[in-house]
Amino acid sequence: MCGIVGYVGRQDATPLLLAGLHRLEYRGYDSAGIAVIGRGGVKLHKSSGRIARLEATLPKRGVRGTTGIAHTRWATHGEPTDANAHPHADCSGEIAVAHNGIIENFAALRAELTAAGHTFRSETDTEVLAHLIEAAYDGDLQQAVREALRSVQGTYGIVVIDGRHPDRIVAARNGSPVVIGIGDKEMFVASDVAALVRHTQQIVYLDDREIATIEAGGFRTSTLDDEPTQKSPATVPWGFEAYDRGEHAHFMLKEILEQPETCERTLKGRLDAQFGTAHLGGLNLGARDLLDIRRVKILGCGSAYYAGLAGAHMIEMLARIPADAEPASEFRYRNPVIERETLYVAVSQSGETADTLAAVREVRRKGGRALGIVNTVGSQVARECDGGIYMHAGPEIAVASTKAFTSTLLCTALLALNLGRVRDLSAADGKRVVAALGRIPEQVRAVLRERERVRALAVKYMQHASAFFIGRTHAYPVALEGAQKLKEISYVHAEAYPASELKHGPLALVSPDTPTYVVLPQDDLYEKSLSSIEEIRARRGPVVAITQPGDESLPTKVDDVIVVPHTEPVLSPILLTIPLQLLAYETAVALGRDVDQPRNLAKSVTVE
Ligand code: G6P
Repeated sequence: MCGIVGYVGRQDATPLLLAGLHRLEYRGYDSAGIAVIGRGGVKLHKSSGRIARLEATLPKRGVRGTTGIAHTRWATHGEPTDANAHPHADCSGEIAVAHNGIIENFAALRAELTAAGHTFRSETDTEVLAHLIEAAYDGDLQQAVREALRSVQGTYGIVVIDGRHPDRIVAARNGSPVVIGIGDKEMFVASDVAALVRHTQQIVYLDDREIATIEAGGFRTSTLDDEPTQKSPATVPWGFEAYDRGEHAHFMLKEILEQPETCERTLKGRLDAQFGTAHLGGLNLGARDLLDIRRVKILGCGSAYYAGLAGAHMIEMLARIPADAEPASEFRYRNPVIERETLYVAVSQSGETADTLAAVREVRRKGGRALGIVNTVGSQVARECDGGIYMHAGPEIAVASTKAFTSTLLCTALLALNLGRVRDLSAADGKRVVAALGRIPEQVRAVLRERERVRALAVKYMQHASAFFIGRTHAYPVALEGAQKLKEISYVHAEAYPASELKHGPLALVSPDTPTYVVLPQDDLYEKSLSSIEEIRARRGPVVAITQPGDESLPTKVDDVIVVPHTEPVLSPILLTIPLQLLAYETAVALGRDVDQPRNLAKSVTVE
């Protein structure tokens, strides 16, 4: 959510900063700005709209200078206007600040600064930072930033430049990521490695309450209390190709089509065919700890929550431990009862989602044990959990999550196996599940071959203003995710219901204008789901079944059928999800929507 990039070195900063912003556009894209230290001091350019619009408004001869910062925004305080775009300057125009996060006490600070004679030009919380630094400035920029941050409550990742110190950027972090990229006589700074990987693989993450002064030749870090800190550079685990769309029209399509490989990576080295279990070294739990667990609670937001619902079902089925999932965004606010024998599992692709992180903190503050199922290695959720399972799905750039969803389901299946095999799950049953997991990547590949058929369906139904998605038990989370995908990127109104609930309300809205997508695995509840289909057909509602082989007569009972391969019943959500990802994608493309940057949304929601 929002993207920051900074450069200090010998090259012209503007093109580098703009290229970096494009890499971060997936995190926020309602306004953008750039500040570069030129001959006459800081030159600031800002524009509402996409980065392309900012580029179009820059002076023809460019903004020359070798030190600069830039920002792409997802509005929280104040509409996405030119004035509210970052960076924000102080009264003198010497200091410019770009910020991710929220300054909670900005209203009080703004009133104090206004009373002291400062003039504000925007409605943002961020602008107080520029004026606070100005007020604290006494010749030392880092000291002024440190001083300013003492008065601030809230979260921030910030970068600051000052025309009086053209050789440096000061950066600081509290709750919002800041990463320094180490180049050859040049340095980069950003909120996300995606902006840096083209230039360097050597990076350093700032920790919370840490501040850095970055110059072309190096950087030094210290705490906000002025204690020097030592940092060791890490190497970015993915090459820059992982952050590129390649030949694909959209990141979302790339990420959908990548799933055979991402699933393989999630499983790699973790399946134990001999004992019918999973190796999960990062859990930091021995067999006795696993045995002590009496309940599992999965926490996540958006698609991560829906994946958690499917995962909870897997855990109940394989391990026979009560398991459920809850939106992390609600959990944190309801003073939850934390139990010693409950295992809390936070699911997050980014590992940055503020609500999920807050839920982890709530669990741990009250003495609970939290594991993370996280994609981004070293992210805040991963760091704050007691252990966890990395997805290894590679960077997910599209706002609509796809490969992280399927990798999460695989991680929960591995966890379920592990918990099951120290309990009543027999070796034979465990081995069957392990073998089925091993076949998943190839089966995902087979499902993806249905793309043309799904595209035809998307075109057939795209003009309908509303759609239902239904499924029973473990097919219900798949329905929820299918509806979520469709509404997120195509803006078609979509609602998911347990199929059993249809007749308790939503049936009132079923008509020839409302297609229903039925997630229909071949399991014990198949016949019952057919009854729901009959109820819809009796109201002349079109029905599309996403199903598995086994019922030759199904095409006579529904309007359209997409078939995915058989697997162990507990794993079927993984395969049933993929046609619905394709459906949302193809519908959005057919409707001419901006697939990777849907309106009002952002990839990683790092604020409340
Ligand atoms: C945002 C995104 C969703 C995502 C959710 C959780 O709302 O738009 O696509 O599922 O955050 O993100 P996380 O990174 O925690 O999985």
